[in-house]
Amino acid sequence: MDAVVVMGVAGCGKTSVGQALAGSLGWPFLEGDSFHPAENIAKMSAGIPLQDEDRWGWLDTIAARIAQARSSGESVVVSCSALKRRYRERLAAGGLRVLFVHLSGTRELIHSRMALRTGHYMPTSLLDSQFAALEPLAADEFGITCDIDASPAEIAARVAPLVS
Ligand SMILES: Nc1ncnc2c1ncn2[C@@H]1O[C@H](COP(=O)(O)OP(=O)(O)O)[C@@H](O)[C@H]1O
Ligand SMILES: [Mg+2]
Repeated sequence: MDAVVVMGVAGCGKTSVGQALAGSLGWPFLEGDSFHPAENIAKMSAGIPLQDEDRWGWLDTIAARIAQARSSGESVVVSCSALKRRYRERLAAGGLRVLFVHLSGTRELIHSRMALRTGHYMPTSLLDSQFAALEPLAADEFGITCDIDASPAEIAARVAPLVS
C-alpha cells in the first residue's frame, strides 16, 4: 500500500482521524489542505465552492507527494476530501496503490462539529455543496466506509488492522 487517503466532506474528521491513524501505523501524515493553491483557499474562505478545474492541480500535487514518498520507500496517510470517483482515480494515477477510507456521517452531526471548530477557513455554508458533490465509494473501488460516531482514536483503531 502506498497511501491511505482519509476522505469525506468538510468537517467529517479527515485531519483528526488521519493523524490518529498515521500515529497507529507509524506512517507520516500529509495534510491535503496544505497543498491547495492560495486561490482555492481564498475561494473557500469566501464561501465559494471549488469546481473540478480548481481541484485537478491540487489532486495532482497530492499524487506527486504520494509518489515521492513511495520512491523513498515510505507509505503515507493523507487527508483529502476526494469527493468524486474521478478525483480518487486521479489520486491513484500512475499505478499508485491507494486505499480510501471514507468517513461517513449525517449532515447534522458534521455540521455541529464544524460549527465548534475554530481557526479553519472552511465555512459551514459550504457543507451542502460538499454533500452535493460527494460520490460515496462504489463497490468496485478500493476502500472502506467508516461511521464517524466514535472518537478519532477509536476509528483509527478500527481501520489500522485493515491496512497492511
Ligand atoms: N470522531 C470525532 N468525534 C468527535 N469530534 C470529532 C471527530 N472527528 C473530528 N472531530 C472534530 O470535528 C471537527 C472537524 O474535524 P476535522 O478533523 O478538522 O475534519 P476535516 O479535516 O474532515 O475537515 C474538529 O473540531 C474535530 O476536533
Ligand atoms: Mg482537515
